[in-house]
Amino acid sequence: MSYQPLKGQKALVTGASSGIGAGVALSLAQAGADVVINYASSAAGAEKVVKEITALGRQALAIKADVSKEDEVAAMFKQMISAWGTIHILVNNAGLQQDAAFVDMTLEQWNKVIGINLTGMFLCSSLAVKEFVRRGMQPELSRAMGKIICMSSVHETIPWAGHVNYASSKGGVKLFMQSLAQELAPQKIRINSIGPGAIQTPINRSAWETPEALSSLLTLIPYGRIGLPEDIGKATVWLASDDSDYVSGQTIFVDGGMTLYPEFARGG
Ligand code: BGC
Repeated sequence: MSYQPLKGQKALVTGASSGIGAGVALSLAQAGADVVINYASSAAGAEKVVKEITALGRQALAIKADVSKEDEVAAMFKQMISAWGTIHILVNNAGLQQDAAFVDMTLEQWNKVIGINLTGMFLCSSLAVKEFVRRGMQPELSRAMGKIICMSSVHETIPWAGHVNYASSKGGVKLFMQSLAQELAPQKIRINSIGPGAIQTPINRSAWETPEALSSLLTLIPYGRIGLPEDIGKATVWLASDDSDYVSGQTIFVDGGMTLYPEFARGG
């Protein structure tokens, strides 16, 4: 059997019906966790992930909720806690892009992206932290009272023309995560982020689906390949496990070197 550092722990992954979230949910289950698969619209996608997880002998539960809506998030936590008793690991993964040149960007596009990518993290983290504190320590399961992993992006530091709403949401995630980590570390709650680079998922299909697009994308990735959801899944397992018990308030970039200013490899 594979290494199971999360055995007995209950995890919630938002936006887990496809892409990075689905990969993360599967990696957490392989590491021993039972996983709630939150989804906004694709019940079929969520059910597929549930089936893959139950085939591993772990429990999985698909729960529909729009993470930007307080009542839906509250209902999701209620359902999870009444089914499984508590939550140990929250992965704030749900996110989307609504790209536009700034002159054309509407308030609706701005609010949608900030609502899901940033406010969604606030709403889910708020209920997760309340439950961690209510439950208290469970030293037989983990040295931490709870763990939150925020799916940020390389665009929490790399500015992104044409994506001002998205980059602003991820810049917000950076200080949301760090401030929360600073506030909650004394209670043994660890909050960290992962900053994925280009990962092959539906969100950035146009960047990899033709050979021309892929080769132009690869000029931004020193390591010379596009990332896969399991690259992010493995990092998430580490941040959720006691192997990273002394890590708090950090963003781990999993990006093949995208944050290394590859355009400066020659010249400058
Ligand atoms: C975006 C992707 C993009 C990647 C690298 C991610 O946060 O969602 O669309 O390919 O950053 O730029």
